Amino acid sequence: MVKAVVAGASGGIGQTEIYQDMPRADNGDKQPLSLLLKLSPLVDELALYDVVNTPGVATDLSHISSTAKVSGYLPKDDGGKAAFKDADIIVIPAGIPRKPGMTRDDLFKINAGIVKGLIELAADVAPNAFILVISNPVNSTVPIAAETLKAKGVFNPKKLFGVTTLDIVRAETFVAEIAGKKTGSELTIPVIGGHSGETIVPLFSKASSGITIPDDKYDALVNRVQFGGDEVVKAKDGAGSATLSMAFAGFRFAEKVLKAAKGEKGLVEPSFVYLPGVPGGEEIKEATGLDFFSAPVELGPNGVEKVTNPLTGITDKEKALVDVAIKGLKDNIEKGITFANTPA
Ligand code: NAI
Repeated sequence: MVKAVVAGASGGIGQTEIYQDMPRADNGDKQPLSLLLKLSPLVDELALYDVVNTPGVATDLSHISSTAKVSGYLPKDDGGKAAFKDADIIVIPAGIPRKPGMTRDDLFKINAGIVKGLIELAADVAPNAFILVISNPVNSTVPIAAETLKAKGVFNPKKLFGVTTLDIVRAETFVAEIAGKKTGSELTIPVIGGHSGETIVPLFSKASSGITIPDDKYDALVNRVQFGGDEVVKAKDGAGSATLSMAFAGFRFAEKVLKAAKGEKGLVEPSFVYLPGVPGGEEIKEATGLDFFSAPVELGPNGVEKVTNPLTGITDKEKALVDVAIKGLKDNIEKGITFANTPA
């Protein structure tokens, strides 16, 4: 029996007092991730947790004739504990999204506390769960999650993932457009580093099927992968950031984690992980000087089976991108660690 939890399942923020000064995202379409999980035969029980609207979303989804049993929880009556209890996988897209002109780091002030609270809950009632952090800034919220789990004495680095899959999905899509390839299994492109602007490093030289990016298109393509999220934020014009493509990406990653947990082999996807705690991580830590980095993760029954060092054999242009990413990541990671260890 697999129990999955989505924390932040309702989408559309701003109804509570603490967000009074923030314009409301009101995109209301975070449910696609819950919908995809509800449709998955890999999930037996789906618990939806949010500070608003989960009874409605859960009741709606519960009428779908797929296997998963759905329930919705709110914070009242210890609903968080009931939602998270004994979960096998917890996906966290809770928190505010970006508005035009904002960087992911601008979200730190509000989302850091939300993620910390949810991780504390997970540590207390579901210490063995795979935890997938979507809430931005991922470069900082994952270190917050790690420190919080450490403080609770239940940190298993093999089971904590920052979800960077959308960057890979974007790279695949944008490259396919240029190279005239079909997207999907035909083309996979590792995107490494972090999940914010210049910390996002696409490695076109390591694409699965030989593609060549023309020199005159390289810089623009890198920039589009790094700042593709801004296209969505701008087009939504104040109504938030990527939700539908994020739901697809979040589900793609969650599905791989669940399939690997059931014994399927050969499942690899880059993810932002704690290097000192995962096989293969030390080599990347030595090369980057960082404790967290997104690198191709081979998944297994217990989470991270091993990470592969993506920095060997990369081009000079890619090396230059990695150097810039490392600088940004260092600050983002430190900020998360400091926050997690500062008493409220
Ligand atoms: P949203 O505002 O539509 O939904 C967030 C939900 O979180 C709301 O329903 C809100 O009520 C809920 N929430 C707030 N505090 C909570 C708490 N303490 N416990 C449970 N739920 C809580 O925002 P959206 O568009 O769904 O984005 C969510 C997060 O995902 C943002 O931080 C955004 O930046 C991030 N994101 C990450 C991506 C990635 O690739 N990793 C891609 C797109 C968005």
